[in-house]
Amino acid sequence: MKHPPGPFGHILFGNLRDLRTRVLEFFSSLQKQYGDISTIRFSVRRVSYIQHPDLIHHILQVNSRNYTKSLRYEQLKYLLGNGLLTSEGEFWLRQRRMIQPAFHRQKLQLLADEMRECAEQMLIEWEKADLSKPFNVSNEMMAITLQIVGKTLLNSDVKSEAKNVGDALSFLLKAVNIRTRTPVLLPLWVPLPTHLKIKAAVKTINSVLDKVFESRRKNPTDRYDLLTMLMEVKYEDTGEHMGNKQLRDEVMTLFVAGHETTANALSWTLYLLAKNPEALKKCTEEINNTIGTRKSTFDDLAHLPYLNMVIDESMRLYPPAWIIGRKTIKSDSVGSYKLPSGHNLLISPYALHRDERYWPDPEKFMPERFTAEMVKNRPRNSYLPFGAGPRMCIGNNFAFMEIQIVLIMIMQRFTFTVANQEEVQPEPLITLRPKGGVWLSMKKVNDSEHKNTGFSQSAQNH
Ligand code: HEM
Repeated sequence: MKHPPGPFGHILFGNLRDLRTRVLEFFSSLQKQYGDISTIRFSVRRVSYIQHPDLIHHILQVNSRNYTKSLRYEQLKYLLGNGLLTSEGEFWLRQRRMIQPAFHRQKLQLLADEMRECAEQMLIEWEKADLSKPFNVSNEMMAITLQIVGKTLLNSDVKSEAKNVGDALSFLLKAVNIRTRTPVLLPLWVPLPTHLKIKAAVKTINSVLDKVFESRRKNPTDRYDLLTMLMEVKYEDTGEHMGNKQLRDEVMTLFVAGHETTANALSWTLYLLAKNPEALKKCTEEINNTIGTRKSTFDDLAHLPYLNMVIDESMRLYPPAWIIGRKTIKSDSVGSYKLPSGHNLLISPYALHRDERYWPDPEKFMPERFTAEMVKNRPRNSYLPFGAGPRMCIGNNFAFMEIQIVLIMIMQRFTFTVANQEEVQPEPLITLRPKGGVWLSMKKVNDSEHKNTGFSQSAQNH
């Protein structure tokens, strides 16, 4: 096979050093130097790096059946079993078809109240806090997105065991993050203390979830949540419901996929707003004029064009899912290259979103890039925060609504500036985290300021 060009790196270690120490810059430099498809070396293993919307369209959409997910997902399999994120082929397709309807916009509407309740609890605490000191909103966003995904999935079923489940889950999420970064891993059956802890945490979660499933079957709840839906739907071919094992895998998958990604999108958006006071002011005014101080409704969310562009632009600059991997099943022609079967490919939304061919002045925060006109003029698949094709994020609307609701509620009550002394650097773990967290100096918005920034009278009367 003729390999696409690329940086040769070290004779034995290939590009491992760059991949470990400066992976974001490294990926961002490849297209300009080597073209739309290049070769990188993980030690002696060659992997293709792809950065062109048409090639991405081919891999993720047109010929997606010829690709599986890559090695990175193996580490998640122990935790997520055969859930949507980690399963493949016909098994995945059958699950995806069945679960997809739960994420339609009308169904999501039913979850908006839960999201608001969680945000309300967080803001009550913020209002009591000592605001003279800056605080780390990234921790807060991690906590609230975990709460929201817990509440929208299981409602209050795990209340009595919430602490055990929360601790076990947090431990597992950390362990998975560490394991995906560790180059050489011992299998989990080797009785290392961390491995035993991982197994114990999985056991705790499984036993609590089994109890939840059984109690739901005995006493069905009339409150809608995602678990109700997962337990109600039936396979088209057999007419059967999902069994406990599959339910558990899907619940864990939604927990993991929906938590940290959304938390990071929120943290980065707050950071960018704090660094761009003009944009913060515009958002606040838009919220004031459309919603005022009342509770936002589902309909309001479609009438906040500027806020929505800010969120889009934030996920352009800091896409929480910063890397997408695939592996060929059979050989495939990609561009002018023939890639063999079993060959790994990488696509980096982080680097693609900085490609000057589609994003002039790419480092600049410019929400206006997302006006309908601008979007229409860019090739599809030049923007991939939620991936593309059949395996595109199933939770994209859920996440977007959650981000909108939390941001609206924060901006209705607080204004803020950035307190970090230096630029916050992105830390590419499983998701793209703000390294060291985003620290904000917060100030309550008082009534007189509301009036100055144009709160409508009718809004204030709600
Ligand atoms: C800002 C937040 C989020 C981002 C940036 C994000 C991003 C992504 C991306 C890029 C993929 C595709 C990965 C690939 O093709 O290899 C994906 C898949 C997935 N996401 Fe999200 N996600 C977010 C929030 C959520 C939420 C809230 C949920 C669930 C409640 C969720 C559930 C999933 C699932 C289940 C998959 C696998 C879908 C499949 O393969 O069929 N995500 N996500």
